[in-house]
Amino acid sequence: MSESTTGAAAPALRLQGVGRRFGALQAMRDVDLEVPQGERRAILGPNGAGKTTLFNVVAGDYPPTSGHVFLFGEDVTRVPAQLRTRRGLGRTYQNVLLFGGLSVADNLYLAVRGVQPRRLSVLRAGAGDRHRTRATELAATIGLAAVTGTPVSQLAHGQLRQLELGMALASDPRLLLLDEPAAGLSPGERQSLIRLLAELPRSITVVLIEHDMDVALAAADRVTVMHNGRVIAEGTPAEIQANQTVHDIYLGHHVA
Ligand SMILES: Nc1ncnc2c1ncn2[C@@H]1O[C@H](COP(=O)(O)OP(=O)(O)O)[C@@H](O)[C@H]1O
Ligand SMILES: [Mg+2]
Repeated sequence: MSESTTGAAAPALRLQGVGRRFGALQAMRDVDLEVPQGERRAILGPNGAGKTTLFNVVAGDYPPTSGHVFLFGEDVTRVPAQLRTRRGLGRTYQNVLLFGGLSVADNLYLAVRGVQPRRLSVLRAGAGDRHRTRATELAATIGLAAVTGTPVSQLAHGQLRQLELGMALASDPRLLLLDEPAAGLSPGERQSLIRLLAELPRSITVVLIEHDMDVALAAADRVTVMHNGRVIAEGTPAEIQANQTVHDIYLGHHVA
């Protein structure tokens, strides 16, 4: 298991003994995780389990206080967030970050050009048509082809979550991290989202955080369950569904 191999065999994501403290609070501890390329992995767990912290550590927004993070076989533990994007990492945030006054097409266009509301940067001139074409393709991929001219402030909540997915796809990620993509969606909107995720090419590895067990079980090949900062179970959706510890957590029992 040499970490110098960065070829096709390397897992898209590997965490080795990763922990993250915030002062006295251990938000994540001793997390080992391996997601092979092409897999759809759900991270399931109650609020406060450490799921978003895991994404922040993988994306480089917060360095881990212990352990190592590997992307496609390369140790990126000390690589800054922007460089991880260039190595193929794309993510969404739990709260939507969009230019509300601009249209769907314009938001996607800016994302394709690498302009994000979170990281304001100066727009360089040139290559406009190619980026416009890519933005139009993305609108179709996320099922928003009919509303490309609509200002984002007028979209329904489900459409916003679809657009958020498009924004994350704009950098052509090889590993896509989605933080609660189904949060606040109606049952119908959830089904559309599950379909969109199923249609993404397998050249993109997808890790999604999901609070809703039904969505996690429908969208994922494998499920990792977190509780109190630790990984407490991992398996296929069927195995997780049959796991008594997981059921206990979701029924609110204390698990040591
Ligand atoms: N930036 C931060 N500063 C301090 N505490 C944090 C920070 N981010 C997360 N935490 C804490 O870490 C724990 C795990 O949070 P989080 O990863 O957001 O959980 P989840 O996404 O599973 O709901 C929580 O107790 C949360 O309050
Ligand atoms: Mg969270």
